[in-house]
Amino acid sequence: MAFISSLLLIMVLIAFPLSSSGGKWTYDGPDGEHHWSRNFPYCGGAFQSPINFQPELLRFDPNLLPIQLQDYNLSTKEQLTLSNNGHSVLLSLPSRMHLTGLPHRYSAAQLHFHWGSSNTPVGSEHTVDGKQFGAEMHLVHFNSAKYPNISTALDKSDGLAVLGVFIEVGEYNPAFDRFLKYVNGIKYNGQKVQVAGFNVRELLPARLDEYYRYDGSLTTPPCFPSVLWTVFRNPVSISLRQYLALASALFSSHAQEAAPMPLLGNYRKTQLMDNRVVLVSFQQGWGLHGTTPVASPVQRRLVIQHLLNGDLADLADGELRHLLPKLQRKPWAVKKLNNPKQQHLGQVTEKHQKNKGVDTTINDALCFINLEKNVSVWLRRHHLNTQMTQALRKAVFPELNLKSYLNCRSDLDLQTIRHLLRSRPSDEANELDQALTKVSQGQKQRPMTQYQGSALTKLTGQTQAAGLKSSHNMVPTNHRLQPMEWED
Ligand SMILES: *[C@@H]1O[C@H](CO)[C@@H](O)[C@H](O)[C@H]1NC(C)=O
Ligand SMILES: *[C@@H]1O[C@H](CO)[C@@H](O)[C@H](O)[C@H]1NC(C)=O
Ligand SMILES: *[C@@H]1O[C@H](CO)[C@@H](O)[C@H](O)[C@H]1NC(C)=O
Ligand SMILES: [Zn+2]
Repeated sequence: MAFISSLLLIMVLIAFPLSSSGGKWTYDGPDGEHHWSRNFPYCGGAFQSPINFQPELLRFDPNLLPIQLQDYNLSTKEQLTLSNNGHSVLLSLPSRMHLTGLPHRYSAAQLHFHWGSSNTPVGSEHTVDGKQFGAEMHLVHFNSAKYPNISTALDKSDGLAVLGVFIEVGEYNPAFDRFLKYVNGIKYNGQKVQVAGFNVRELLPARLDEYYRYDGSLTTPPCFPSVLWTVFRNPVSISLRQYLALASALFSSHAQEAAPMPLLGNYRKTQLMDNRVVLVSFQQGWGLHGTTPVASPVQRRLVIQHLLNGDLADLADGELRHLLPKLQRKPWAVKKLNNPKQQHLGQVTEKHQKNKGVDTTINDALCFINLEKNVSVWLRRHHLNTQMTQALRKAVFPELNLKSYLNCRSDLDLQTIRHLLRSRPSDEANELDQALTKVSQGQKQRPMTQYQGSALTKLTGQTQAAGLKSSHNMVPTNHRLQPMEWED
């Protein structure tokens, strides 16, 4: 008896590590999303997901290849585990399933869903120009070229790739019934059933070549910014009955709890852009915004090399616009290709290249748990232990911004430039800093009076999201390192 019950206890603890250890989180109420950062500081930090795909932030990238799904057609002999973890419905996937066409090989781990309520079928996490879909499916993959399993990959900046699929309520979809017909067996938190394998490809939209790509995070605690996101442009549909199998049949509470809590509305609000842009693999339907050219990776490397090794006086004198392209109203990349100043920038850089290069600055992946430990130790030493979220953001944002900038998925931020200038002679660095601050303030203020509404949104990329998430950055209290629990 004792053996069996302690074995059960161990199994429960492995499956649901946080359920009794104070890391409880929900979507509403005192443990709701505005309070996640108290126990999970990354939730209040940089590069969070989901986001709204605003037309102004989209950049067409002709180099984005169709997503290639490998070994997605599973045999019916294969058993998959369908479970209710109190936050979502999860279907385990074998790591044989993987993605190619991305910078690494990414192996599948699980898929799960986010949805609305039974009378309001609106519950996707990402939104398209403000439009929210009925639900959203996430297929979670980890970088198996570099990490042995998903737990190791979860907190690394290059750890995960998630495919997002919008779901609208409409036509019946037989593929989803492969597992939805079993949800009555997992009504309560902690329950699981086995489901026969099937062709997982059938859950995805027909076109895998049209998608949004950006750098983001897990949308549930601990919110590590470790996800390379691919969200398909075209939704799939399920019937209202199928939608209700998610939205009206499930509980986030355990079977033995006296007050059953319905499991619905399990989507996070859209987050701040943090200078990120969204690459799109398709052009049509977005007018001019979709065709905004981006500075190439080569040009971006030159800019960073110049900051690390080049003549800073040059930059302070007039090449500032190269550094903060987001502050320009016109795209600068294409024009600059034939611009003598561009060559000048390149030559200066090469001259100094031998000392220190971009590669040494951005070589390895960030490990978020280690950074969190270090920052926590540092804060305690300085008796500042309530400032975890802000301190962590400060430590992490320039690195994320730099990597993302070099991959064309962010504009360069002033904080990142300051971070890069720390190793430069301080008088030159200060001069450049002052010039940049002046340019960015001047540029930010002028359009506010010249242009209304959308121009401001375009420049900051944050106006809309900021309105939605006004209490986004909570001051954490009582910070503790938490064991892992996550969905995507
Ligand atoms: C998936 O595999 C099954 C048998 O394992 C096969 O009959 C079926 O044609 C395959 N489907 C596709 C789309 O390849
Ligand atoms: C993942 O891999 C690490 C490193 O090899 C190992 O220590 C850990 O136990 C593994 N975790 C799981 C859940 O398999
Ligand atoms: C954390 O601190 C330790 C010891 O000071 C150091 O070796 C390690 O590299 C640091 N890790 C990170 C991610 O900064
Ligand atoms: Zn998710």
